[in-house]
Amino acid sequence: MTNALRLGIAGLGTVGTGVLDILAAHGDLVAARAGKPVTVTAVSARNKSKPRGKHDLSGLEWHDDPVALAKSAGIDVFIELIGGDSGPAKDAVEAAIASGKHVITANKALLAHHGATLARAAEAKGLALNFEAAVAGGIPVIKALREGLVGNAPKRVFGIMNGTCNYILTKMGMEGRSFADVLKEAQALGYAEADPTFDVGGFDTAHKLAVLTSLAFGTEVNLPAIKIEGIENVALADIRNAAELGYKIKLLGVAVNYGSGIEQRVHPTLIQRGSPVSETDDVFNAIVVKGDFVGDLVLEGRGAGAHPTASAVLSDIVDIARGNIRPAFGVPATALKKYKDSSPRAHEGGFYVALELADKPGAVAAIATILGDAKISIESIVQRGKADPTAERATAPFILITHDTLEESLKQAMAKIEKDGHVASKPRVIRIERF
Ligand code: HSE
Repeated sequence: MTNALRLGIAGLGTVGTGVLDILAAHGDLVAARAGKPVTVTAVSARNKSKPRGKHDLSGLEWHDDPVALAKSAGIDVFIELIGGDSGPAKDAVEAAIASGKHVITANKALLAHHGATLARAAEAKGLALNFEAAVAGGIPVIKALREGLVGNAPKRVFGIMNGTCNYILTKMGMEGRSFADVLKEAQALGYAEADPTFDVGGFDTAHKLAVLTSLAFGTEVNLPAIKIEGIENVALADIRNAAELGYKIKLLGVAVNYGSGIEQRVHPTLIQRGSPVSETDDVFNAIVVKGDFVGDLVLEGRGAGAHPTASAVLSDIVDIARGNIRPAFGVPATALKKYKDSSPRAHEGGFYVALELADKPGAVAAIATILGDAKISIESIVQRGKADPTAERATAPFILITHDTLEESLKQAMAKIEKDGHVASKPRVIRIERF
């Protein structure tokens, strides 16, 4: 066998340790697939004395500073598992490229903010910028878009891209547990980001979506163009209502290329039960690619956790070992098209609207009038349960499903309904997605 491929790993947290686990378990298999031995020769982490399970790091080059690791003459590939869109992760990736090292990163935030610039720098030097682990954990969706689907111009890419949110929504629905309680569990299982606001606020999904959009449509990564809503305001009652109506609630990232422009959004979504996406539960992710020649493709698997994510890093390592160096976003970064937003259009699938309606004559008529004035057509109405006559102000849960509607019209109607005095709390609105 030829000379070993020498890896430098920056960040020995959940994923970094997972990479060490796979190399320890499958060293020979990986070497056979890579065509050469693959060895970790240098590492960098915050705490040198922290125990790393069965892994003995004493013989490895140690760097307190990831930038020093990135520049080390003792590595061929720099693996960035630090996280964050700036600071040490960005400095180290830039240093690695500048000193001629291939880069592997699991850092979706970095790619969403600086992907095109980093890709240009890497490609100018003939280096890889590989990031299979950055989107959907163990699912090889980057490779699918970058290689397997090159014969297609996808029109739509969407799916569940955050394991933590899917875990929370699933457990809330199945076990009737509170948001905060399930979030704690997801953190303990190593699914959540260091700051879980990134997960539950929808930002992690947005970072991943921005990367997929660029790969799928050949446009520059555009994170600011994404409309983002998290799952913090999804109530247990909404999950139950959705279930009774035949839906599940999932946090989706959706990117659509209309030809004239692109739409990217992240939001909780009602999806009819029985579809591959609605039945993807727990920490699993599911990405759907609608290709023009291949048709619909669904990729499902574990979207977070040490070993699934490390499995994706291994795929990037073997590509580099085999000399399979491709443009990071499928086409050379200098050839990525300018991003253009689509014009506003009616949301296909309509909206779920949950109101706590005052139980008094004329309330329903008032709501119907506001919606009618806004040209919002109602598909169905469900009044759930009874108002509690002993409550200080009797209200009744009132659920509306609209037909396809412009989001702006719905927002304006909701603002009117809120002020009108017939509802006891802010209306809760969730998009319904038809696939
Ligand atoms: N926090 C992320 C998730 C980890 O829950 O999906 C994988 O990117």
